[in-house]
Amino acid sequence: MVGGRYWEDAPIVALQRGSGAFPDGFLWGTKTSAYQIEGSVDADGRGPSIWDTFSHRTGATRNGDTGDVACDHYRRLDDDLDLLARLGAGAYCFSIAWPRIQPTGTGPANESGLDFYRRLVDGLLRRSIVPVVTLYHWDLPQSLEDAGGWVSRDTVGRFAEYTRIVAEALGDTVSTWITLNEPWCSAWLGYATGEHAPGIRDHGKAAAATHHLLLAHGAALQVLRATTPSAQVGIGLNIQPIRPASDHDDDRAACRRVDGNLNRLYLDPLFKGRYPDDMLEHYSGHAPGFDVVAAGDLETISRPIDFLGVNFYSPTTVCAPTRRAEAQAAGFWIPEPDRRARVGDLNAVQVLRPEVSRTQMGWEIEPGALTEIMVRVHDEYATLPLYVTENGAAFDDYVGPDGEIRDAERIGYLDGHLRAVLDAVGAGVDVRGYFVWSVLDNFEWAHGYSKRFGLTWVDFRSGERIPKASFAWYQRTVRDNALEP
Ligand code: FCB
Repeated sequence: MVGGRYWEDAPIVALQRGSGAFPDGFLWGTKTSAYQIEGSVDADGRGPSIWDTFSHRTGATRNGDTGDVACDHYRRLDDDLDLLARLGAGAYCFSIAWPRIQPTGTGPANESGLDFYRRLVDGLLRRSIVPVVTLYHWDLPQSLEDAGGWVSRDTVGRFAEYTRIVAEALGDTVSTWITLNEPWCSAWLGYATGEHAPGIRDHGKAAAATHHLLLAHGAALQVLRATTPSAQVGIGLNIQPIRPASDHDDDRAACRRVDGNLNRLYLDPLFKGRYPDDMLEHYSGHAPGFDVVAAGDLETISRPIDFLGVNFYSPTTVCAPTRRAEAQAAGFWIPEPDRRARVGDLNAVQVLRPEVSRTQMGWEIEPGALTEIMVRVHDEYATLPLYVTENGAAFDDYVGPDGEIRDAERIGYLDGHLRAVLDAVGAGVDVRGYFVWSVLDNFEWAHGYSKRFGLTWVDFRSGERIPKASFAWYQRTVRDNALEP
């Protein structure tokens, strides 16, 4: 023994997984999206997107909030890059606003729009942060929506063209691409429940939008392969375990429908090259629905990707509508439908377990469900690399009298989910990285500014940023490549 203290003499080995250490080279990051943070919606030739239109519609968002200013990130770019450098995470995932690149969704590139993202990427690289680009995080140019949006097959070609412009401009400096963020939300919240832009309520349109979004993913993948062959390309899906409230056949059937709509409708075409039969049948009475599928489309959709992005927040339990009383008698709560409430015609009711804590969104906190969904992808679909491309939580944060934001609940949430990632790694899943949603409080879609997901508090009046306690916690975690014991 050299120093006289026994632990100094102990062999130096990496912490065991069970004690919180991550694999070497694990990619730590944070994620944002353009409309939620940028503001400057009229700057430098940007055209309107469906979210500009929708958020200005009376009653569409909480308090009538819009992304007009948001975090003012467009004008505070350098300060925000410094904030990311201070955080120390090796990667940053942001999305490109299509209407900054093509204000009406077609035609030549708007160079000043591209310049903003060139500056962003260069600023990241100068700070040794890996840029990860999402091509589409919900802000479709309004002109394309006017021409049918994702219900129209033409939008697929437009998206491929937009992808080519971006890939040619950034392909030298960006090597990781996410084609679409959560196409389920674009299709079902946008075209079926109407909670999101463009605010349409039509299941047949939502089904057609699902197909065109997936086809747009496939088309963009081909463009990226041709333009920037060494790039890593994936898609980000909001998949989650769906459970039945009981073993009763009706609850299990409801569970299967919701799982079909939320998970299998995306995983099956991407990895198996076909839509699930039960879902095709379910939507067969809804025009245009999956009648828009043409020969060859599924080959395009199922071309191999390099990784899958898993966006995870919460699992969901459902019962059949006819079994509400039994579910309540068994101790479940039946909440008012929230934005995660399942799509109406699936004949399923979301139920909550009262003993399970929830975030401010009302979403149940169950880290093990993240392990479960990643293991399912690995076992049932593909063994490709996974990244947790979104995970995080909104809580009722406040700035204390001393100016500090002590968001212990968020730290607990993130810590628990990172341990769930380690469990997945331990189970043999190839998880390569993890991105916190989000680095900044921002515009939470229909909830406006009422839900704060950031590691950094944003004062939406002054634009001031104040790192929360979770920011310092994440700083330490990424520095150590390990969780605190
Ligand atoms: C995801 C979205 C992201 C953010 C988080 C909380 O569904 O991709 O923009 O709103 O939820």
